[in-house]
Amino acid sequence: MEITLSIIKADVGGFVGHSDVHPALREKAVEHLAKAKKDGLLIDYSRGEVGDDIALIMTHKKGIEDEEIHKFAWDTFTAMTEVAKEYGQYGAGQDLLVDAFSGNLKGMGPGFAEMTFEERPAEPIIIYLADKTEPGAWNMPLYKMFADPFNTIGLVIDPSMHDGFRYEVLDLIGEKSIIFSLPEDMYDMLVFIGSPSRYVIKHIFRKGSDEPVAVTSTQRLFLMAGRYVGKDDPVMAVRCQSGLPAVGEALEPFSFPHTVAGWMRGSHHGPLMPVGVEDDTPTRFDGPPRVVALGFQLKDGRLIGPRDMFGDISYDNARRLALDAADYLRRHGPFEPHRLPQEEMEYTTMPAVMKKLKDRFKAVD
Ligand code: F6R
Ligand code: MG
Ligand code: MG
Repeated sequence: MEITLSIIKADVGGFVGHSDVHPALREKAVEHLAKAKKDGLLIDYSRGEVGDDIALIMTHKKGIEDEEIHKFAWDTFTAMTEVAKEYGQYGAGQDLLVDAFSGNLKGMGPGFAEMTFEERPAEPIIIYLADKTEPGAWNMPLYKMFADPFNTIGLVIDPSMHDGFRYEVLDLIGEKSIIFSLPEDMYDMLVFIGSPSRYVIKHIFRKGSDEPVAVTSTQRLFLMAGRYVGKDDPVMAVRCQSGLPAVGEALEPFSFPHTVAGWMRGSHHGPLMPVGVEDDTPTRFDGPPRVVALGFQLKDGRLIGPRDMFGDISYDNARRLALDAADYLRRHGPFEPHRLPQEEMEYTTMPAVMKKLKDRFKAVD
């Protein structure tokens, strides 16, 4: 049967600061999700969290960017914002950028990753949620999962994967997209996705099919709002097994905590640390950035799960490496490459300092 998986997320208030979600917000989300299931809007739902972000994980028959589903998410976040205000939560309603919902959530603040597909007899899916970083954080792991034989041995020895996959890459600034076919276009694609602040993998497809096997959220809040409103804290979903990366191949890229942009004030580089759901609360210097992985089996659209995929000792070394990398980067204090380059920082005093000092700058011969 054809179903749509929608993951719609927002930060509508942090507990404490930007580190976690208050239980009362969680309850409000579940209350709305349960009602939507009872009313028949949703087949099933689950809820995910990382740091100060909460994700509504939903299955339904309405397709992607559906007005009713998006409005339901908007109304749920609005109701959660009321609770956040009542409990004095930090940044209540921060990701709801417009006054009223119209059409769909594009440009309104909440992030979403959605895909419609024909459910297989057994459909394992991993949903990844990250905090204190941006959508480009998924570029390296997705490259490894679907294109790198040192990560995914299936590309070499599974006849159903050996032809490779197609990647859709968005240019967030030029507002264009392009399809790369791998392995043929590998070097061309790497020229772009190696710049994750601008070029972001949106979908991955099998060759010869337009049905997505992976999808990410790509909204960049600061571009939409024209001012700082927090890093986008992206989500992604990856279908696994039977001609797609095995669950272990889809998790393997995170054994290396690669460097991403985000962390304190959305203005620093830091390691993306894979954590179990117990440890999804960024605290040190508001970080380091982190990712949780929720595993589900889908059955007739029912979300059987989640399993906490990074809550496993085999990720302990990745966490240790992330903490060492965090120590190393922190010692750079306000210097690059810990601090982001000027044009990527979400907080800056540069224009004001420049103005103040303009008469003290003298021409150099
Ligand atoms: C980063 C983040 C935090 C805040 C920081 C300052 O994405 O959410 O690091 O940027 O705590 O927050 P404000 O300016 O709200 O005091
Ligand atoms: Mg926040
Ligand atoms: Mg966040």
